[in-house]
Amino acid sequence: MSKNIITPFDRNQDMPLFESAGHQEAFARLQLMVKNNYLGVLTGEVGSGKSTLIRHLVHGIDHMSYQPVYLSIAGLKPRDFYSEMLHHLGETAPFSLVKAKRLWEEVLEARHKQGDKTLVVIIDEAHELSQAMILELRLVMNHRMDSVSFFPLILVGQPELRRILRLKKYEAVSQRIGLRYHLGGMTRDETAAYIRHRIKAAGLDKPLFSEGAIRMIYSATQGIPRPINHICSQALYDAGCKGHEVIEESHISRVLADMERQRGTAG
Ligand SMILES: Nc1ncnc2c1ncn2[C@@H]1O[C@H](COP(=O)(O)OP(=O)(O)O)[C@@H](O)[C@H]1O
Ligand SMILES: [Mg+2]
Repeated sequence: MSKNIITPFDRNQDMPLFESAGHQEAFARLQLMVKNNYLGVLTGEVGSGKSTLIRHLVHGIDHMSYQPVYLSIAGLKPRDFYSEMLHHLGETAPFSLVKAKRLWEEVLEARHKQGDKTLVVIIDEAHELSQAMILELRLVMNHRMDSVSFFPLILVGQPELRRILRLKKYEAVSQRIGLRYHLGGMTRDETAAYIRHRIKAAGLDKPLFSEGAIRMIYSATQGIPRPINHICSQALYDAGCKGHEVIEESHISRVLADMERQRGTAG
């Protein structure tokens, strides 16, 4: 199979958002988190579309009023957090954590007084946050311990994040969560519509996926976009090489068998 062809399932640049019910609901909640300065949590399986939603949120935000800051750092610690944030705000972060924290508070107060743009802090892969950072969130958002938060902070992560935040030691943090959403897989009909959406977004009207092919894709992926992309892309190579215009069950079977074999050799 030639792998030099780019299919509508490989490119993600400028891909319009497919609005499944789950993606729509998640997006609406992300907007509410921003509007209400919430500590918000978005969880979902790997490849379900969390980072894609965040990209659309950041892209569509009113940049006259908001300043988004996107962090995706494995094992983020309070020191990294403050230095990243200060850096984004044009400050040089002092080496000492205590000083960095104090400077962050001062900058935040000053921005608030001056009516500067509201920060929108997004922490992706938040299931990998260090314990110290999770505990720090309380202070990050509400250093005065009295008033409401100056800005929204959105944690994005795998389902594991839900379990972590339920731990007793994080109770003070979870009590501050204003809104949360768990993004599940798409339905079978949505999976079919998603596949059409990707093909159409690439400016094509072919190939078509047969009902049976879609059924197989859905049952192999439970409606999670990234594995759907992977299977569709492989099936297109397969069909393309043979000059077929309709993707049938036989193409999907071959791809799934290939994936199974690869899993076997990888493990
Ligand atoms: N609603 C959507 N519309 C279009 N493409 C999507 C959508 N959701 C996910 N995708 C595609 O699926 C892939 C995985 O999504 P991603 O946002 O990286 O998942 P996650 O961050 O949850 O692991 C991306 O390549 C993206 O293009
Ligand atoms: Mg992601």
